[in-house]
Amino acid sequence: MIDEAATDFEAVHGARSSGVWAAPGRVNLIGEHTDYNDGFVLPIALPHTTRVAARRREDGRLRLYSAQGDGTITDLALDALAPGVVASWAAYPAGVCWALAEAGFAIGGADLFIDSDVPTGAGLSSSAALECATAVALNDLYELGLTAPELALIAQRAENAFVGVPCGVMDQMASACCTDGTALFLDTRTLEQRHVPLDLAAAGLRLLVIDTRVKHDLGDGAYAALRAGCERAAELLGLPALRDLPAAGLEAALDRLPDELRPLVRHVVTENGRVAAAIEHLDGGRIAELGPILTAGHASLRDDFRVSCPETDLTVEAAVAAGALGARMTGGGFGGSVIVLVEAERVAEVSAAVEGAFRSAGFAAPVTFTAVPSAGARRVG
Ligand code: GLA
Repeated sequence: MIDEAATDFEAVHGARSSGVWAAPGRVNLIGEHTDYNDGFVLPIALPHTTRVAARRREDGRLRLYSAQGDGTITDLALDALAPGVVASWAAYPAGVCWALAEAGFAIGGADLFIDSDVPTGAGLSSSAALECATAVALNDLYELGLTAPELALIAQRAENAFVGVPCGVMDQMASACCTDGTALFLDTRTLEQRHVPLDLAAAGLRLLVIDTRVKHDLGDGAYAALRAGCERAAELLGLPALRDLPAAGLEAALDRLPDELRPLVRHVVTENGRVAAAIEHLDGGRIAELGPILTAGHASLRDDFRVSCPETDLTVEAAVAAGALGARMTGGGFGGSVIVLVEAERVAEVSAAVEGAFRSAGFAAPVTFTAVPSAGARRVG
């Protein structure tokens, strides 16, 4: 795939690329809708990546070609980039150039050939993978010297201000910073991170990702509304962020909030608690104990945060009924994917149960794969 990106680059751009870089999609184990509340998250990177073959240009132009696009080159003048100017997928790499320039790292131009096997609209952070692959490529091409977390912040800035999606920092941090065989325990306030070993195979376990194929879109306003609701609640409680509300103070705090904000706050506070519990189990080598935490997290997203959908609910229900240790939707919600923690010998049974449940409900067949904690953004060729 890497050689292919280099060869295809040459066919499209008429010259040899200087290298190939890759950045992965992610699934989040636990800690959902906590990142924009300054809370805690625990994602892993997927083996699925977006690859960018690239070379410098000296004429201030950004020329983009995507193997998943319409077969044409998008040719942009870097000095004309501004929020709202670029539509479609090209806004992500263009946004990274814009954010780099805004941070004082203007680049002279670039040709990019982009190819990806990160499913789009599946809640697996294909946007972050594209942003981070672009960022890590430009960082090397122009010897900018930025660290992986710094590149993640550039990528998040691109998505927030250039693309216009008010996401938190989890996806970009996961794509930029994860390492092979570990989950990334991240404090989204301090950006302190710890790579927590996660050897599922050694524990006789598998983590399935079941893409319900209900397309999710964070740009449609629902995500922004939830974020605004959380920020409003923090403001009413006189707190910098919901992260500052301890579990012991939850009930009293809920009494001070309007009805519609209470479930949002309950979710965020209990979800931060679930991340802490998950970390304790992982540190103690008890991976299977994550199961009930995942399922409880799903119930909270379904009943309190209300970002699940019939397909994700059915996946969780069917997987757990068929003997999975636990399951929950992952990512922003409104569709997308479900993660299922299951003993290796039960994988076939659980997958078949979910497929059967989808058939009975008249839903389109889901797509299932096994997730292995993989490496973050890097040069690959
Ligand atoms: C999306 C956003 C993240 C995070 C999750 C929910 O993936 O991009 O920043 O808020 O939703 O946990």
